[in-house]
Amino acid sequence: MSTSASTRPLSDWIAVIDFGAQYSQLIARRIRECHVYCELLPHTTPLSEILARRPKGIILSGGPASVYSPNAPRYDMAVYERSIPVLGICYGMQLMAMSLGGKVASAEKREYGRTRVSILDREDLFATLEEEPGGGMVCWMSHGDHVEAPPPGFDIIAATENIPIAAMRNKEKGLYAVQFHPEVVHTPQGSALLRNFAVDICGCRPSWTMSNFIDLAVAEIREKVGSDMVLAALSGGVDSSVAAALVQRAVGDQLTCVFVNHGFMRAGEPEQVIATFSKRMGANFRAIDASKRFMDKLYGVSDPETKRKLIGEEFIRVFEDEAKKLGKIKYLVQGTLYPDVIESGTALASVIKSHHNVGGLPERMDLDLLEPLRNLFKDEVRELGLQLGLPPEIVWRQPFPGPGLAVRIMGPITPERVKTAREVNAIVTDEIEQAGLDKEVWQYFAVLTDTRSVGVVGDERTYGHAVAIRAVNAQDAMTADWARLPYELLDRMASRIMNEVAGVSRVVYDISSKPPATIEWE
Ligand code: XMP
Repeated sequence: MSTSASTRPLSDWIAVIDFGAQYSQLIARRIRECHVYCELLPHTTPLSEILARRPKGIILSGGPASVYSPNAPRYDMAVYERSIPVLGICYGMQLMAMSLGGKVASAEKREYGRTRVSILDREDLFATLEEEPGGGMVCWMSHGDHVEAPPPGFDIIAATENIPIAAMRNKEKGLYAVQFHPEVVHTPQGSALLRNFAVDICGCRPSWTMSNFIDLAVAEIREKVGSDMVLAALSGGVDSSVAAALVQRAVGDQLTCVFVNHGFMRAGEPEQVIATFSKRMGANFRAIDASKRFMDKLYGVSDPETKRKLIGEEFIRVFEDEAKKLGKIKYLVQGTLYPDVIESGTALASVIKSHHNVGGLPERMDLDLLEPLRNLFKDEVRELGLQLGLPPEIVWRQPFPGPGLAVRIMGPITPERVKTAREVNAIVTDEIEQAGLDKEVWQYFAVLTDTRSVGVVGDERTYGHAVAIRAVNAQDAMTADWARLPYELLDRMASRIMNEVAGVSRVVYDISSKPPATIEWE
């Protein structure tokens, strides 16, 4: 098994050397939003390796360490001696100052949160940035240490009430540094500052667009695949769909896509995937209705981890059977995204839930991986999907767990309970869409609980199921807050669920955030 990473410089680009800040990924995202390609590299990456790929600028990220502590990460001093501009952010600024003979001190007063920064020079880094009402510009600070004396040759170009050196510059050497975080949304003009650095100071052409990416990626996939055959597992989600569409653009008939319907999909989902891909791919698209096979395995199973493991394993079996029928396949397409690439290799978090997706496949199959999205963020993948002509329903699809509705049914799986879960999920989706909130709310669904409760219909006592509605807002899936949906909307959902779905006698709204809860119930 091998992994394909695009190491070819796709255009003018900026390297971010990552010292472990919470916000490092955001630096790359903000720079890419200015249409300049940007990659995050661990601070253990040798400078020579980075320079061999000819970046036009280097950013030193923030990080949790203090520069004087014994284990503080350092970087090759030669980074300051090149003709390539360097921007230090927070820890990156302190490291630059210390390395070049300045002085770093612990702040008497720790600065955290929104801070007004006075701009002392508007020449290059702060050019085009506007004076905000109230003076200066609002910036997000999160630091203990700060630069007390700049290194020789540096000018002070911004200050705050608490720290006299909020930004510094050595114009001659192309060295810049800011104490605040331009990459976070709480620094409203931060993107403009990063653009000034990448485009004006480093001279990057803003040519990183998804249409340019398609041309480059197609050429790269063709070169790699040659005349070999490729297989893709389609889940119906945006990542696997976009990856398959891109590979198809590159190698056409050499790609076969397999969609396995495990029977726990949302209403209309299999039909939509089948319609989209059979039109695009004709005979090279196979849809397998394995719902009976999965139900035989899952019938009566209640334990969440057992459900996940059984579905994951059965998925592999079905997929292997199909691959065997197809004969000689060399590559397997996988929709791995850039955040997964960045995160792999960092300390592993404990397993909260066994995630099932097509990621489980290659370990068991002797195939090389083709991961054409491994340099892209989710918003770029969506844009790419639109450019490749995928329908908006697929491109904007909200996250959905690999085991599907099986983990939205508490207690035993039966065909009747799957039907109920599908119906209640469809009502929640429909109402959110009708309220025009489908792009605003990050994820929304319904859970069929295993609690029953007493109700009354006409003069009759009922004893039906309780359904929980879940709607959350999140930046990523690591944390989430329950969405403050309008009462009228909740009211409509509840009455439709109780009127239209047989056997449901109660609807509740889940107001747990993550952590300590998770987004899905199982
Ligand atoms: P939790 O429930 O862990 O979910 O807070 C975080 C996000 O991941 C989705 N999810 C999954 N995605 N396979 C997936 O591809 C899975 O097995 C799986 N389980 C949960 C969930 O919908 C949420 O967006």
